[in-house]
Amino acid sequence: MKSADIIFEKTSSLHGQSVAAVVNGLRSAFPDLNVVFSTSLSLEDQAITHMLATEKLPVRIFTLDTGRHFPETYRTLQSTRERYGLDIQVMFPATTAVENLMRQKGAYSFYESVEARQECCAIRKVEPLHRALKGADVWITGIRKVHSPDRSHLPPFEIDHTNNILKFHPLLDWTDSQLKSYINEHNIPYNRLQDKGFLSIGCEPCTRAVAPGGDMRSGRWWWEDPDKKECGLHVHK
Ligand code: ADX
Ligand code: SF4
Repeated sequence: MKSADIIFEKTSSLHGQSVAAVVNGLRSAFPDLNVVFSTSLSLEDQAITHMLATEKLPVRIFTLDTGRHFPETYRTLQSTRERYGLDIQVMFPATTAVENLMRQKGAYSFYESVEARQECCAIRKVEPLHRALKGADVWITGIRKVHSPDRSHLPPFEIDHTNNILKFHPLLDWTDSQLKSYINEHNIPYNRLQDKGFLSIGCEPCTRAVAPGGDMRSGRWWWEDPDKKECGLHVHK
């Protein structure tokens, strides 16, 4: 595995380029580069999946199945597999950790405190993420600047020191209308909850619809202070 810093140096000439140009550019510098993409089946991630699949890019795609997703999310996973014939790796949480959590704290402990919510996210998302990222050099995500003030100042390429990996956010500057047009133009399968006001979709008990004109992430962990709304997958300095 290459050091994230060495790969990062090669990205200076790749700003503003397509996913394909970036992946191919980095692989020409590092032929055995291990690139992964994490998909939550969101609109952003569906657009990226379409790009990776149509360009047949050598990128391992994985999703974190927390066990608490909406039925519509599983249907999106299925329609994506069928549309693109893709091998999407599905990561599950460690069995014993979930068994202990459910037995000791019940099925809804996350409503009790930020710590309890973070404990559930750590078990159901963050630990499986660490396993999924093992051996990878580059991690593609669907993060956009418009998601939150924290994300609004991110660069397209950044080093995640926790996972010692280079993160690449190809849609960072995309607007909502740009994203929706791309999905419609290419007839990309998407989560039907989007049509019912669910603008950012995570686990079912922790996601609700947003009123028209509302902030897109306000339906996630809505009972918490907005500043604490990260689940630990993405740590912003
Ligand atoms: S979160 O940290 O609040 O949950 P968000 O839903 O905005 O993240 O998604 C941002 C990016 O994180 C997605 O584009 C995707 O790359 C990754 N991600 C989030 N949830 C998952 C998931 N369940 N499986 C895989 N990747 C995910
Ligand atoms: Fe648990 Fe909610 Fe985090 Fe999902 S979003 S892992 S249900 S606390």
